[in-house]
Amino acid sequence: MEKIIEKLVSLCKRRGFIFQSSDIYGGFSAIYDYGPLGIELKNNISQLWWKEMTQSHENIVGIDSGILMHPKIWEASGHVGAFNDPLVDCKQCKARYRADEFSDDYTSVNWQNEQCPKCGTRGSLTEPRQFNLMFKTHVGPVEETGTETYLRPETAQGIYVNYQLVQGAMRLKIPFGIAQIGKAFRNEIIARNFIFRTREFEQMEMQYFVKPGTDDESMQQWKKNRFQFYINHLGLSKSKLRFHEHEDSELAHYAKEAWDIEYKFPFGWSEIEGIHNRTNYDLLRHEEFSGKKLSYFDQQNNDRFLPYIIETSAGLNRMLLTVLTDAYWEDKKNNRTVMKFHPRLAPIKAVICPLVKKDGLPEKARKIMNELKTHFKIIYDQQGSIGKRYYRQDEAGTPFGITVDHQSIDDDTVTIRFRDTQEQNRITINEIKTIITNSMLNL
Ligand code: GAP
Repeated sequence: MEKIIEKLVSLCKRRGFIFQSSDIYGGFSAIYDYGPLGIELKNNISQLWWKEMTQSHENIVGIDSGILMHPKIWEASGHVGAFNDPLVDCKQCKARYRADEFSDDYTSVNWQNEQCPKCGTRGSLTEPRQFNLMFKTHVGPVEETGTETYLRPETAQGIYVNYQLVQGAMRLKIPFGIAQIGKAFRNEIIARNFIFRTREFEQMEMQYFVKPGTDDESMQQWKKNRFQFYINHLGLSKSKLRFHEHEDSELAHYAKEAWDIEYKFPFGWSEIEGIHNRTNYDLLRHEEFSGKKLSYFDQQNNDRFLPYIIETSAGLNRMLLTVLTDAYWEDKKNNRTVMKFHPRLAPIKAVICPLVKKDGLPEKARKIMNELKTHFKIIYDQQGSIGKRYYRQDEAGTPFGITVDHQSIDDDTVTIRFRDTQEQNRITINEIKTIITNSMLNL
């Protein structure tokens, strides 16, 4: 099963979805660049999330806060003190591991008895030491203590510190939510499984501000909403999704209750999104560190309180890996690899192919292309045999192939080829737009 990831990595490079960062310099560990198809797919996914979280909920609005923020924010949030991974080194071969890879309860492991998984030496592993995952940087030209800050390890804090400004500007009444999509950075000790765990990634987070006492109910609601998103919007099969509840030992420093939505990847069940009850922990800490009152005033009930926060936190890159993994299909019967993206997600919706490069067919095909391209991402391809052109697009996940032939000149019809079934139908040029539009709606 792990081989599927290897094949996916190779397909992603070949077709322009994802490249290892700094490729010509030999690569840069745990960072990836998104190519032409990758960025289209990523945008389609993030737009779906944004639409679902903001447009479908009257009481949820968006923001876009800075990646660099006041360093005190990270002290207040607890990330300076507690955002650590336990690290063990092999003194023999210098391999480095997260201690919790050996056991969830790594504090009770006798490290003298453990064997290094890489070189096999027993007793060569160090005791775990805590390693802070935040990337430090300096603001301004002089590198001294007062100028130090961090690249944000989560987008959430940018929402908390702006919450009163947003609430006032939009006249929001509790319960309300603030959503944000943006980059986050973590100096992960072990980065593996392609884009699953990287040092630079994007989060799609929504923080829902509720009245204390209503938090448990809200948590239930968001758990349900978020789980359904993967089925109803991304089209994933329910059997590959499940919840995992965090036990006390797994809970982040800010959480009262936490649930992961997990997907069954080729490398095993793994987290794609977290739903957390963060209580009023973050707002309390920001009050303490900033000296500002961050309470909310409920005018109707003449009640002042510090809201509780239910957080939904998804990784965009992980969601993309989920979509890629789910779409990957080896059609052995026809000796082809197909990315079976839902048309709504597909980076390219259709390829327009003139059958031959003469007799006015390229011109006719270009005309169709020009009409469609204002509505959808379409490409034009006249290179190689029709079969080869289709197979290229099967790997790109393009749901429709439109072939313009001599009959098209006479009667304004084309052949439409469906990616998954390879079925071909004769349709009029006018029907193409409706077929693509309808396919994107259905799930
Ligand atoms: N604000 C809460 C928070 O950041 P988290 O469980 O640490 O919670 C939330 O992260 C989501 O962010 C994860 O479910 C995952 O999808 C994504 N994520 C976290 N670390 C990541 C990494 N190193 N690479 C890619 N995605 C990551």
